[in-house]
Amino acid sequence: MITSAVVPVAGMGTRMLPATKSQPKEMLPVGKKPIVQYVVEELVAAGIEEILFVTGRGKHSIENHFDFDHQLMRLLRETGKEDLLEELEFERFTTHFFYTRQRLQRGLGDAILCAERFAGDAPIAVALGDSIIGMSTSSCVRRMIEAADNDRNVCIIAVEEVDPKLVSHYGVIQPKGSAAGALFEIADLVEKPAVNEAPSNLVIAGRYILPPRIFEAIRRTEPGANGEIQLTDAIRLLREYGCRLLALRLPPGERRYDIGNFESYFETFIEFALADREFGPRLRERVKRLL
Ligand code: G1P
Repeated sequence: MITSAVVPVAGMGTRMLPATKSQPKEMLPVGKKPIVQYVVEELVAAGIEEILFVTGRGKHSIENHFDFDHQLMRLLRETGKEDLLEELEFERFTTHFFYTRQRLQRGLGDAILCAERFAGDAPIAVALGDSIIGMSTSSCVRRMIEAADNDRNVCIIAVEEVDPKLVSHYGVIQPKGSAAGALFEIADLVEKPAVNEAPSNLVIAGRYILPPRIFEAIRRTEPGANGEIQLTDAIRLLREYGCRLLALRLPPGERRYDIGNFESYFETFIEFALADREFGPRLRERVKRLL
């Protein structure tokens, strides 16, 4: 079983300035929780026991968030706010957290290469720290681990269908055959293609199962889209090592919330806030009045 996961959080978040000037985009709240907490909860629910964050400058608040804050707990107890301790339940995760830095911003492939020693000789799960899957704790990574079925030579990528006009923002896969069902084979994949050159509208949704040979493949990968070492390009090379590439399609009703820009961040925040059990109903009324 796969028990280790990597969460890349090194990106500068420049598309979300000024909000991200002195805080990581992964720590921006969506509803009551920071984005990266949703990601970690998905991994914990998948049985992941060790998580490596690949961080960069200015990302300390992520470490603080997943650490115990004894002073805060004591304060809540002493001031009769025990009910708020429930909000800190996630601190009790028995997961082991590790942190390493990507020293140069050379792309997602390079960020994953920073996890080589952590992974050792075992397959790993990867969950991008700025993408939430589904509105309640997703079983996406769990399903991917099950689909990998202890095969050391398989790479699985979560994919979702998007408006064909938007494909150039993503990695895009070309299915082998008809892409029927939830799990199907990938013939090829390309990072950020031009709209008229994209092989489909099935895009990479920020969750991966990677075999041990991925590191060898990344080292052989030349800079690609945006001049960066792309994970998508390294995955293409895995085919040369005889690895199978599979896609797991997100089911309807479980879409990906990408927090890379303000447009999708605002939409995501509103959707999660409206679904909040405590504040959602009143917010809905307020929003209706504002429209
Ligand atoms: C990365 C991946 C891309 C994927 C996307 C999903 O791109 O390189 O293949 O579709 O995440 O969010 P980025 O968002 O870093 O440009």
